[in-house]
Amino acid sequence: MVSRAGPTTSALFLLCCVGSWLTSHTFPTLGPTERGKIFKELRSLSKTLLEDYVKEEKGVPTSQSYTLPCLIPDAQPPNNINISAIQTYLQTISQLRDTTTMGEIIEHLDKLKFQDASKTNISAPTGTLEHKRFILTILTQFSECMELASKLLNSEAQRAG
Ligand SMILES: *[C@@H]1O[C@H](CO)[C@@H](O)[C@H](O)[C@H]1NC(C)=O
Ligand SMILES: *[C@@H]1O[C@H](CO)[C@@H](O)[C@H](O)[C@H]1NC(C)=O
Repeated sequence: MVSRAGPTTSALFLLCCVGSWLTSHTFPTLGPTERGKIFKELRSLSKTLLEDYVKEEKGVPTSQSYTLPCLIPDAQPPNNINISAIQTYLQTISQLRDTTTMGEIIEHLDKLKFQDASKTNISAPTGTLEHKRFILTILTQFSECMELASKLLNSEAQRAG
């Protein structure tokens, strides 16, 4: 098909098909419905994780120094959630503080993961308070990120009918 295609056709091919190629290769085994279910679970688990942490560590402030890279700039939904970065951050936190909820979240992220897990380690800050602020900040942003992801997926599902 490529050999027969003229320049215009190639351009159209790129426009139309690379998008869906990316979509299908990005999530090789998951359809939108399954993906939606996982993100729904993640949204609820991320809230639980955050609520539990806030209950346990009362009065810890968040910090402007930490940012969870939630979205991939220039990518189209639903493939614009930086799962690999999110997983790296959560794995770092789970090394500091492992819970059942955290384990479930990491399992779900594994199912969504399409890129190789980022090889970079995130170095958690030292110092007890800074440590807690890091965890609280990332967990807060994770919960917001999953809220956003669910919204993006819902609108995708609605468009798909
Ligand atoms: C995801 O986030 C990480 C950490 O910020 C970044 O290095 C990586 O390039 C991002 N992935 C994509 C596909 O943009
Ligand atoms: C990341 O951390 C793990 C566990 O501490 C270590 O085994 C690994 O070598 C580190 N990777 C890099 C790239 O620093």
